[in-house]
Amino acid sequence: MEGSGSRSISTDVDYFRPTVYGLAASAVLTLLVVVGSRSLLHYDSALFGYTVASVAAFGAIVFRYAIWLQRPATRAYWRRGWQLFLDRGRIGGNFGTAAKTIATNLLEQRFIFKRSRSRWLMHLLIMWGCIFSAAITFPLVFGWIHFELEGARGYRAYLFGFPLQTMDGRGLLAWLTFHALDFTALMVIAGCALAIHRRLYDRGAIALQQFLLDFVPHLLLIAISVSGLMLTASSLWFEGYMYSFISLSHQALVIMTLFFLPFGKLFHIVQRPASIGVELYQQRARELPQAKCRRCGVEFASEMWLGDLKEVVDKLGFDYTMAGGEKLQDYCPRCKRILRGLAYAGLADKTDRVF
Ligand code: HEM
Ligand code: HEM
Repeated sequence: MEGSGSRSISTDVDYFRPTVYGLAASAVLTLLVVVGSRSLLHYDSALFGYTVASVAAFGAIVFRYAIWLQRPATRAYWRRGWQLFLDRGRIGGNFGTAAKTIATNLLEQRFIFKRSRSRWLMHLLIMWGCIFSAAITFPLVFGWIHFELEGARGYRAYLFGFPLQTMDGRGLLAWLTFHALDFTALMVIAGCALAIHRRLYDRGAIALQQFLLDFVPHLLLIAISVSGLMLTASSLWFEGYMYSFISLSHQALVIMTLFFLPFGKLFHIVQRPASIGVELYQQRARELPQAKCRRCGVEFASEMWLGDLKEVVDKLGFDYTMAGGEKLQDYCPRCKRILRGLAYAGLADKTDRVF
């Protein structure tokens, strides 16, 4: 057997297009801030720091995502995933598969539940705590949502300048609305506490974890949540004591986290949803024509997957061409092992006997 060697790995990364996409994304978000806040009429200039950081981080995330998509395997799944999804005759069924994957994997996170219930609870609290916090804070910061007093004790919420429903300022809905961030902060703190507890006591985790990758995200999220709760405590019970200092600390921590998003573990927030395409790929691959093993004739993988695999392996710089010109990937896993064993046995015959 020949050819299990490797060639030089192609490391060409195109930075130009990702830079253009990143800049375009930042420009679009800036435009949306201007339009959504009605030409900055409802924009609070005290939140300028948050806005600049969000615009820069959004561009950086898009830049990093575009770079990530250039990896041969990611690119193959991405392209094929979209191609399969947009397949005209199956678009209805594809929507169904995507909706099921979103419900079970993205929302319900069943695959984490299979690992352990406490890990699932940990992630549920962190993820939904952060999603709700983001859904409240970003629109407020960008001036997309604002509240106006209406009548003696009522408020009206406005979205992109359009009026929504009114609330009684002393009613339950108003109380829940104005304290929503306190609840999400408690969710995030509880989730991060569970995660840190696991990382301090689980031997498997201890063996693999790194401070920057596995602890810094939790510490940042806890710091943001605690500083947020301190803001509430300061205004509710301490007559605004140290409010501006805590507010600046909250802002600094949020900005640090936003800038950390494209580089650390939290990047999986935008990476993971792409698994919807992988799931569709795997499901369609089972239905498509199957490739037969060159040696034993058993069907072992779809022809589409095999073709994509050969392309990816080639782009990664590996050459598995065999003596007869065929590729090692054309054999089923069992025959691959047999071929390797036979190759080793043949090698022993050719080698001069030392003992
Ligand atoms: C706002 C959204 C999200 C946030 C803030 C978030 C945050 C986190 C954090 C902090 C961890 C590290 C926990 C640890 O290992 O100590 C984690 C782990 C993980 N996340 Fe997320 N995540 C989010 C969305 C998602 C989504 C959409 C998926 C996939 C569909 C996902 C999949 C995972 C997986 C598989 C792990 C490893 C969990 C384990 O320990 O078993 N996350 N996430
Ligand atoms: C894990 C995510 C976050 C949590 C748990 C959180 C929590 C909080 C809490 C509890 C408050 C106090 C609310 C009150 O006044 O009663 C607050 C205030 C605030 N948060 Fe956050 N926050 C988070 C992320 C963010 C992000 C991403 C931004 C901006 C993009 C942001 C911007 C703000 C602003 C502008 C205020 C008001 C600050 C002030 O009055 O000076 N937060 N946050």
